[in-house]
Amino acid sequence: MSPPETKRHPATNPRVRPAAIGDVPTLHHLLEIYASKGNLLPRTMSELYRHLRDFFVVELDGKVVACGALEIFTEDLGEVRSLVVDEAHERRGLGRLLVERIVDEARTIGLKRLMALTYVPVFFHKLGFRTVAKDALPDKVWGVCVTCYKFNQCDETAVLKELN
Ligand SMILES: CC(C)(COP(=O)(O)OP(=O)(O)OC[C@H]1O[C@@H](n2cnc3c(N)ncnc32)[C@H](O)[C@@H]1OP(=O)(O)O)[C@@H](O)C(=O)NCCC(=O)NCCS
Repeated sequence: MSPPETKRHPATNPRVRPAAIGDVPTLHHLLEIYASKGNLLPRTMSELYRHLRDFFVVELDGKVVACGALEIFTEDLGEVRSLVVDEAHERRGLGRLLVERIVDEARTIGLKRLMALTYVPVFFHKLGFRTVAKDALPDKVWGVCVTCYKFNQCDETAVLKELN
């Protein structure tokens, strides 16, 4: 991951679109890179196929270089999940583009709040999220967390954005 002070030139003509079936191997590969470093939860290919409609991707010159998902938890709460930008294209505005698209989608479908569990709270703060206590999150979130290998030692920060 780029150090905090690194700035790169913005990506030219990035295209954000909903993910398609043919993207799954690329999504799996992108997520694997960071999952193996412990930055993200791993997701199996079959999980990615089942949740494909949650995902948006960013293409640069026709190549998928970033992805992120909107998962719905409750009638008013969604989560930004599986957000990753190819290391070669970090700090070029693609993470921001994806989260802005996910925020738009969350608003469109009527969600009121969007959360994330992250090691990069400062990135989310730039996008209008604020850090919250994890125990402020509803039980349903923990229903997913209990399946996580880090459940008893979760060291991520919870961030939340109000969408109204
Ligand atoms: C975190 C991540 C998604 C950010 O995406 P990105 O495309 O590199 O970020 P952007 O270029 O859109 O940055 C948006 C803003 O956040 C800041 N930012 C991004 N990453 C940062 C970091 N690690 N530390 C401090 N600030 C950061 C940028 O400087 C920029 O600020 P600005 O608008 O004032 O210029 C990306 O680095 C990544 O995939 N990391 C590894 C996986 C991961 O941790 N995912 C998050 C899981 S919730």
